[in-house]
Amino acid sequence: MTMPSTLISIADLQARRQAWDSDGAKVAFVPTMGALHQGHLSLVKQARNLADRVIVSIFVNPTQFGPGEDLSKYPRTLSADLELLARENVEAVFLPSDATMYPDGFQTYVHGKGMALQLEGSSRKHHFEGVLTVVLKLFNLVQPHVAIFGKKDYQQWRLIEQMVADLNLPIKIIGGETLRDSDGLAMSSRNRYLSEGERQLAPFIYQGLLAAKAGFAAGERSPEVLIASCRNVIEQHQDFVVDYIELRQRRNLLPCGTSVAEASVMLVAVRLGTTRLIDNMEMD
Ligand code: PAJ
Repeated sequence: MTMPSTLISIADLQARRQAWDSDGAKVAFVPTMGALHQGHLSLVKQARNLADRVIVSIFVNPTQFGPGEDLSKYPRTLSADLELLARENVEAVFLPSDATMYPDGFQTYVHGKGMALQLEGSSRKHHFEGVLTVVLKLFNLVQPHVAIFGKKDYQQWRLIEQMVADLNLPIKIIGGETLRDSDGLAMSSRNRYLSEGERQLAPFIYQGLLAAKAGFAAGERSPEVLIASCRNVIEQHQDFVVDYIELRQRRNLLPCGTSVAEASVMLVAVRLGTTRLIDNMEMD
């Protein structure tokens, strides 16, 4: 097992990138904030299948965390992460410092309108500004042919597709399916914040989504009814505080109107104790 090269500075990254270009290699990129789990690794496996060289970034991006969010306690498990990436035969890991990404005087941000301001964007002000800014910077530095994002963060994935289209970036974006624990809880670096009791309850988010999906499969087309069927399952347990449960059009994440006519997705954000969890399911 060969450990991936760790590239810390922009100069190191650019030198490696140029070497890959002279080899004519196709490059796939998976951006992450580390604390890697099988969900991240499923994206890395897809990257491996799509390209000659795979590069992963690990950077806990301060600009996408709001005041009072978990930036300072976000899990950091670098040596375990590097071992996991070595097993997936990743060639390189980009590990920039905060000062490399945001040097003194930094002042230019990518500000999405429309889709970026709803759902997660309305609950977490400036979150997507931070995400889009860091992803655009990473794309400019890494210059991948293809980049893979998880549908676990459905809105993030759609916003990045939109940014790539709007700003004419020559990068293909792939959406990877959500990996779940055996009881249905979507894998997330934040699951480790859950107490034992909260961890037992957390799969009811998945159960709620399944209830809506079953309703849809049985022919129900009223967003109100489908949302209520999801909400009822989750709210049976009073420890959940629902932030939102919404049924949206998959294409643009706009509301579905009074009857679901287009491909849609149910999106959920809840708080369980001090932990905020998101999940979603495509209705089909
Ligand atoms: P992070 O939360 O580390 O996630 C990195 C990638 O892994 C994202 O594309 C995310 O959607 C995907 N992912 C997370 N859990 C998953 C699961 N259970 N199944 C499949 N994929 C999963 O998302 C971010 O980091 C950051 O916002 C980032 C894009 C790196 C910008 O800072």
